[in-house]
Amino acid sequence: MTIPAIPQLPLLDGGSIPQVGTGTLIAKGNELADTLAQAIGEGFRLLDTAAQYANEGAVGEAIRRSGVDRAEIFLTTKIAGMDQGRGHTRHGLTDSLRRLATDYVDLLLIHWPNPSRGLALETWQEMLDLQAEGLVRHVGVSNFLPQQLTELHDATGVWPVANQIQLSPALARTELRAFCRERGIVVEGWSPLGQKEGTMEQLVVKKIADRIGVTKGQVILRWAVQQGCVVIPASKNPERRHANADLFGFELTDQDMTDLATLDLGEHAAWDPNTHEEW
Ligand SMILES: NC(=O)c1ccc[n+]([C@@H]2O[C@H](COP(=O)([O-])OP(=O)(O)OC[C@H]3O[C@@H](n4cnc5c(N)ncnc54)[C@H](OP(=O)(O)O)[C@@H]3O)[C@@H](O)[C@H]2O)c1
Repeated sequence: MTIPAIPQLPLLDGGSIPQVGTGTLIAKGNELADTLAQAIGEGFRLLDTAAQYANEGAVGEAIRRSGVDRAEIFLTTKIAGMDQGRGHTRHGLTDSLRRLATDYVDLLLIHWPNPSRGLALETWQEMLDLQAEGLVRHVGVSNFLPQQLTELHDATGVWPVANQIQLSPALARTELRAFCRERGIVVEGWSPLGQKEGTMEQLVVKKIADRIGVTKGQVILRWAVQQGCVVIPASKNPERRHANADLFGFELTDQDMTDLATLDLGEHAAWDPNTHEEW
């Protein structure tokens, strides 16, 4: 089952990114390689992995099994907390490239800012070097707040092209998204279905889905793409994958957006990048 064409969003550095991709935290090993190869065959081009997920080997294998040219894939990986800092960042990326069996990634993100160690800026500076060397096409971050983004920009004059954040109608991140939008930083939503927050079970979502004749997942994902965000839902199920990508043939009304805004639990309900750290 082929998915509909996915629009591209412009990046600050002149490149572009598919607006819908697939996450990779759904399976491991052979099962993940087969699932992702199938997803690539269906038309998914944006793949989201991370050193921390311990699945880069399977992601690389999926690209190989898919038979699709590497140049057609938009591959994202992330520098883990343990690999932050001068020298370590380069090693972190080199190890990822080996596991992914590729000689470049399309987008490299700092996975979490981890402020207690204060290494995000050094990491960012080294990522700019890696970009200049052609090992990375685009550089961005994940889970950064406005002041953490500003610190990188103030020191280097370069904004990350993307900020991948926890995002769904239940975690609307309105101020953070506005900050990014004003600077041209693309917001990518992780856990975009808001499963842990119970977004799928909300009556308002069901009512909108029934009226439009789409699934609840499509309503939730459309909420993000209609506001110019990238989403990377992950599913082992081909029908759900298809629905997750079929977001551009319908629109939510202003009233729908107002109704969905009532689901926002507020910024305090999101994992706080000032205190939540990952290694
Ligand atoms: N940067 C970060 O810090 C960070 C953190 C977490 C995740 N991520 C990335 O973001 C990706 C997505 O996040 P996530 O995996 O946490 O959450 P998600 O994609 O929102 O949810 C995945 C779960 O939802 C189910 N699902 C998918 N589509 C569905 C649909 N249409 N209807 C009902 N259920 C559906 C899947 O089960 P089935 O397989 O059974 O469909 C799976 O259990 C990850 O895979 C990872 O690449 C990044």
